[in-house]
Amino acid sequence: MSIDYASRIPNNVDLSGNRALQRALEHWQPGYQAWWAEMGPEGSRDFDVYLRTAVSVDAKGWANFDYVKMPDYRWGIFLAAPEPGRTVNFGAHKGEPAWQEVPGEHRANLRRLIVTQGDTEPASVEQQRHLGLTAPSLYDLRNLFQVNVEEGRHLWAMVYLLHAHFGRDGREEAEALLERRSGDADNPRILGAFNERTPDWLSFFCFTTYTDRDGKFQLLALAESGFDPLARTCRFMLTEEAHHMFVGQTGVGRVIQKTCEVMRAHPGADVKAYGAIPLEVIQRYVNYWNSSSNDLFGAEISSNSANFFRSGLKGRAYEDKQADHLALEGVYAFENLVDGKLVSEQVPLRNAMNEVLRDEYVHDNEKGVAYWNKIVEKAEIDFRFCLPHRRFNRSIGVYSGQRCDLDGNPIGEEQWNRRVAEWLPTPADRAYVASLMLPVREPGRFAGWIAAPQRGINSQPIEMEYVKL
Ligand SMILES: [Fe+2]
Ligand SMILES: [Fe+2]
Repeated sequence: MSIDYASRIPNNVDLSGNRALQRALEHWQPGYQAWWAEMGPEGSRDFDVYLRTAVSVDAKGWANFDYVKMPDYRWGIFLAAPEPGRTVNFGAHKGEPAWQEVPGEHRANLRRLIVTQGDTEPASVEQQRHLGLTAPSLYDLRNLFQVNVEEGRHLWAMVYLLHAHFGRDGREEAEALLERRSGDADNPRILGAFNERTPDWLSFFCFTTYTDRDGKFQLLALAESGFDPLARTCRFMLTEEAHHMFVGQTGVGRVIQKTCEVMRAHPGADVKAYGAIPLEVIQRYVNYWNSSSNDLFGAEISSNSANFFRSGLKGRAYEDKQADHLALEGVYAFENLVDGKLVSEQVPLRNAMNEVLRDEYVHDNEKGVAYWNKIVEKAEIDFRFCLPHRRFNRSIGVYSGQRCDLDGNPIGEEQWNRRVAEWLPTPADRAYVASLMLPVREPGRFAGWIAAPQRGINSQPIEMEYVKL
């Protein structure tokens, strides 16, 4: 499936064959450009950035690398190739032909799913807009910008669906996506974690590890949707999301690597004296970002999630691998927390779809922690990272407002207060990390708190000038 790049809005959806839609999107485009100029990466307008742009959506053709000024990036609308004869794969409509148009009865729910997903895309660009000023290398600066332009494209992906399938209220929602602002008191982004600050690069790497990974699992669930345009859009977005996972996972890994090198060179010394970040501080950042991203999956017991599943709008990740696509009979067993005590409960499976998706997320996160522990192990350092239990530090769902330790054991308020400085970043941690955030802009050089990557981007040398300032 090749992409029409001659058009003002690159696309593989034959936009020129639908003049009304093309005009509507061309009308939205200047607003998007103005949003990027106002809220996109600060001071980056004239940089030439070695960016990847999709040129086709098949396995090989989508990664084309060249120097681009970000405002000139060819944001566009790319859907994965259609699957001939695709049917709805789960829920009450299982076996019916997948919908090419929005079914009237599901219109409000579908719009809500698309708007909620769409809102996270510009939010993360806004959260990250100051980071370019303090990038630890040109390599990292380029990776940040790549993530940013792709989140911008994900916004395009959702806005296309709103314009193409939801008429006037879709157009209004598309406008509102450019109006909300991350962290704004009056008009914030929809989901909590997308209103938190991403003030430093350790936070950025944790964000891309955990918050982007939430995105990956939301996209996996929406890629199963019976609404075919949404499924195809999300399938292509997932190919881009893989790079965001890579940036987070290896980013935290390189910070760990550097600390381990300093620990080996100066046994027993405080690594801060050498400008590295203590492993305990990294663990606290992990705890913070992991727990706030756990909230993004929503409540453990949810009639909305049951509804989305029943209606065929949002499935499970890897729905193909499930034995029972109706999920009418099964139950989901979990530990509720009632008055500080764990209580085993069972809920109908359909009502636990958020939790089923969170299970997959936790499993993926465990693999990520194992990767970091390999780095520590190889350096023969006596420390192991852990993934906090999903009950730790939650603000949404049955555990919210209740206190649990990192292993998920319920604890009292007094114990929480005594130990919270071991578990979550302290003001001193944040101040120390902030003190390290000084830009490094010489090709091939890296800030003292992070190791160089193993290889460059697209088989280029690490010392390539990835961003020309
Ligand atoms: Fe995204
Ligand atoms: Fe992402």
